[in-house]
Amino acid sequence: AETLIHIENIISSTNDVLKKDAVNLQNGACILAEAQTAGRGRRGRTWVSPFGASIYMSMLWRFESGYQSMAGLSLVIGIAVIRTIAGLGYASCQLKWPNDVYANQKKLCGILIEVEGQVGGSTDAIIGIGVNVQLPSDIEGIEQAYTDLSTVAGRSIDRNELAARLIENVWQILPVFEQEGLRPFLPEWEQADLFYNQAVELMSGNQRIKGVCKGVDSSGALLLENEGSIKSYHGGEISVRRS
Ligand code: BTN
Repeated sequence: AETLIHIENIISSTNDVLKKDAVNLQNGACILAEAQTAGRGRRGRTWVSPFGASIYMSMLWRFESGYQSMAGLSLVIGIAVIRTIAGLGYASCQLKWPNDVYANQKKLCGILIEVEGQVGGSTDAIIGIGVNVQLPSDIEGIEQAYTDLSTVAGRSIDRNELAARLIENVWQILPVFEQEGLRPFLPEWEQADLFYNQAVELMSGNQRIKGVCKGVDSSGALLLENEGSIKSYHGGEISVRRS
């Protein structure tokens, strides 16, 4: 059998390398790196990726039935991360819609999913996951409040063990998701939802939408309650309402 898990030293971005090599890789193949020189976050942001400080990982997943089956993918990956960290004994992480993992109100993990369609065929999802493990104290360039797993755990974390557990969890969750969608995972999402029942605002394009967070629906859309009715939203940045 072909190698499923590839471990690299310093590369541009695990998402980019995996994307380039996707035709030669089988379903579930992973690329991990010690450092990234061009780590990418969502919305064109940089993902600061110092050597040995985090998990930088991308996994290939081929969806035979195309885009339709992929709604909610990024949310289910967040659940796989939460399960992984809970499996290490730390059940105190939250999910921030659509796909950040938080601990102590700070970001612990980011997820970047990219889609490569094939004409008339399957769709490749490139699932990028960055989990902060032990960031250097002099790190620069991170534009949001962040934490790492060693801080959350109060001990050092074995990156190999973490990576192995994470890969296992993602491999386990994706076939279920492919068959049944997000629905079976909704209670778990709600349990971990950082903003559930809180007054929030959503910046979507130039629009500022206010509401009370009511979790997500089975397509992965955010549910906001406003003046007695609940509406769903597919994109944007959510934050706690200050005013
Ligand atoms: C975000 O929260 O903005 C998403 C961050 C995703 C970072 C990971 S690290 C592994 C993979 N390779 C990348 O270049 N980005 C993702």
